[in-house]
Amino acid sequence: MTKTELPTAANPGPFGHQQRKNFLFPENFTQFNHGSYGTFPKVVQAEIRAYQDLTEQDADRWNRRDLFPVMDNIRTQLAEFVNCDKAELALVTNTTVGINTVLRSLPFVPGDRILVLSTGYISVNKTVSYICDTQEDVKVVEVPVTFPLSDKDLLTKVEDALKAHKELRDGSRIKLGIVDWISSVPSAVHPVKELVELLHSYGALVYVDGAHAIGQVPVDLGYLRPDFFITNCHKWLFSARGSALLYVAKRHQHLIHPTAISGLYKSGFENEFAYAGTQDYSSILSILSALQFRKQYGEDAIISYTHSLAVEGGKAMAKILGTHTLTGDNDDQVANMVNVALPLKDLSHPKANTKDLMEILMDKYNIFTPAFRHGEHLYTRVSAQIYLELDDFVRLGNIWKEVIDDLNASS
Ligand SMILES: Cc1ncc(COP(=O)(O)O)c(C=O)c1O
Repeated sequence: MTKTELPTAANPGPFGHQQRKNFLFPENFTQFNHGSYGTFPKVVQAEIRAYQDLTEQDADRWNRRDLFPVMDNIRTQLAEFVNCDKAELALVTNTTVGINTVLRSLPFVPGDRILVLSTGYISVNKTVSYICDTQEDVKVVEVPVTFPLSDKDLLTKVEDALKAHKELRDGSRIKLGIVDWISSVPSAVHPVKELVELLHSYGALVYVDGAHAIGQVPVDLGYLRPDFFITNCHKWLFSARGSALLYVAKRHQHLIHPTAISGLYKSGFENEFAYAGTQDYSSILSILSALQFRKQYGEDAIISYTHSLAVEGGKAMAKILGTHTLTGDNDDQVANMVNVALPLKDLSHPKANTKDLMEILMDKYNIFTPAFRHGEHLYTRVSAQIYLELDDFVRLGNIWKEVIDDLNASS
């Protein structure tokens, strides 16, 4: 990943606090947790409202006719953005829908196994549990993962699990592997290309959970060659919540149907996913203006600014806190989200949990970053974004220091 020079007073560049005017934040609030729900610029909000107005002005004209070419144009633009055939893309509302779509469509037979990592997103791993609960002799193979872990060690762990399973010689097979591109908590960029190749070499299909990918890292599906891929546009691409992109390689499309079957059942992949029943499509449609907003700066500029800010910001916070970032000097495992260790002495402190810490951060400081335990430490995950600067991370580091000092004093 390329690093960029962070702006200076003499050379502020297009990013940093001057971007705040393009977003909807109140003056006294700084968003440090873009990673959970994202947010969109004002121009995207205007576009959403324009689509809603258009719908209300003539619901028949819109829903029966004019909606479809707009949706089609979005897929065309996204296909170019992620380098694949438009016919392999479907617009859905979120990653949870994406994983359910694939897992609940794929035909599993007794003896099938699904490989996941312990750091996989909870809704994804729970959907796998649901499949295992509802299908005869379909089981999960979970690879335990604790960071810090080099890419090489992560690949070795997955390969060890594949080998160990092969050696069982019990007639079962790992049919599908599910891997994150960028995990949630802790956040770490995975060696996704190598994971896809490794799983393929053991005969497994691969579903890449790229919930955090688009807008945070360059996505090239022609190069990655997964079987299935999902990415939320509402996280890092700047479109509205409820907009995601599902990729299904052509060779599997005959197996995959939307979770909610509509009148378009058996009309082919593109048709079946073109209309998910009556709903407000404006969030999906907002992908267009999000792409336009980003184009004025360029993907490289956005991605390298936010990556550099996450890396430098994480280091600045760790210095204030007297701790470390989860992935240390391995900057390539950081995209826009950085995990900073919190210097809590007693991990069993009654307030050392996500909810209590959330109350303190929101009520006393009017900010929020998620805190979570991983391995032997409590960490917080901080999201860099184009509207933030290094001094925001310094302020956040000092706030977290005050919070943890208070907990340490009361333990
Ligand atoms: C890695 C990962 N997968 C899946 C999801 C689920 O995304 P959504 O809530 O948009 O369905 C998330 C959400 O944060 C995530 O981080």
